[in-house]
Amino acid sequence: MIPTKRIQLNSAAAEEEVASRLARGELVAVPTETVYGLAADAANGAAVARIFEAKGRPRFNPLILHVVGCAMAERYARIDDVAARLMERFWPGPLTLVLPVVEGSNIHPLALAGLDTVALRAPRGALQHILALLDRPVAAPSANASGRVSPTTADHVLRTLNGRIDAVADGGPAVFGLESTIVRPLADRIVLLRPGSVTPAELEEAADLPVVRNTDAAITAPGQLASHYAPHGRVRLNAEEPKDGEHFIAFGPLAQPASSRAAAIFQLSETGDLREAAARLFTALSSFDAPEIERIAVAPIPSEGLGEAINDRLARAAAER
Ligand code: TXA
Ligand code: MG
Repeated sequence: MIPTKRIQLNSAAAEEEVASRLARGELVAVPTETVYGLAADAANGAAVARIFEAKGRPRFNPLILHVVGCAMAERYARIDDVAARLMERFWPGPLTLVLPVVEGSNIHPLALAGLDTVALRAPRGALQHILALLDRPVAAPSANASGRVSPTTADHVLRTLNGRIDAVADGGPAVFGLESTIVRPLADRIVLLRPGSVTPAELEEAADLPVVRNTDAAITAPGQLASHYAPHGRVRLNAEEPKDGEHFIAFGPLAQPASSRAAAIFQLSETGDLREAAARLFTALSSFDAPEIERIAVAPIPSEGLGEAINDRLARAAAER
């Protein structure tokens, strides 16, 4: 095991080191005012896949993208009046907004879990400077192994992730110790997806709109919906080989006769690399998602490591609907 490097975040040089590690695709735990986040370049699919791998997350939930502020957010999301008012009042700070993602954004589909909305927040403190240096967003869930409590110090991060991530930037204890409030602003109301330290009363006052608790399971926990992100066609799993006319999602080398039977082949990873396959999964599903594609087959994926999350998502894509 290579122990995780600890970086004392007490100088401009330290912030530059963190920014350049993130730019190189490294996984770095960073302090925010809420909890420590496990950050990776949101446009880099392999780096985002490593977030899920390091956390041992059994499924791909969409991640929060961290931006410097409204100007950077505008490059990735459609911001209406309500969203703009909330950003002005609460950013930088512990409020996350779920907004429609702009067409052609370079955010990796794995960070969005294939959704057409994006969760954005502008953190306070050193991470804000790091994001300005990087000039693009980082995806960051809380920096703890899956199922463990969210970390509020660098030591706490290392307790579950030492050796699994490249570095931890130590910025002292987190101020709030509680994850951000998550909302979906709509034209006539604000939907509260996760309560946090920005309260419904503060939101109502800032936006002059009612705050409603979420009743739509599809928005609360998109990763957990049984048939989320199912393509139009039927999906056959654990297919050793494609049948005639099937669209085939391959994993590892494919024999010549098998490949000539398939209508088309999307290779997740020629070498059977789970990190590469995770990074390509949503692109594979969406490229075969068309009304005229009726039958999709997917090669077996081993269930170890990231394979568990890949298989979870494939099972949802194949579920009865
Ligand atoms: O304070 C925080 O928000 C911390 C720090 C590190 O910034 N981050 C955090 O991330 O709590 P995470 O990954 O543990 O929680 C992200 C939540 C998940 O519940 C996910 O379902 C939701 O955000 N989420 C992300 N994108 C979404 C979307 N497009 N629609 C609805 N919910 C979304
Ligand atoms: Mg968490």
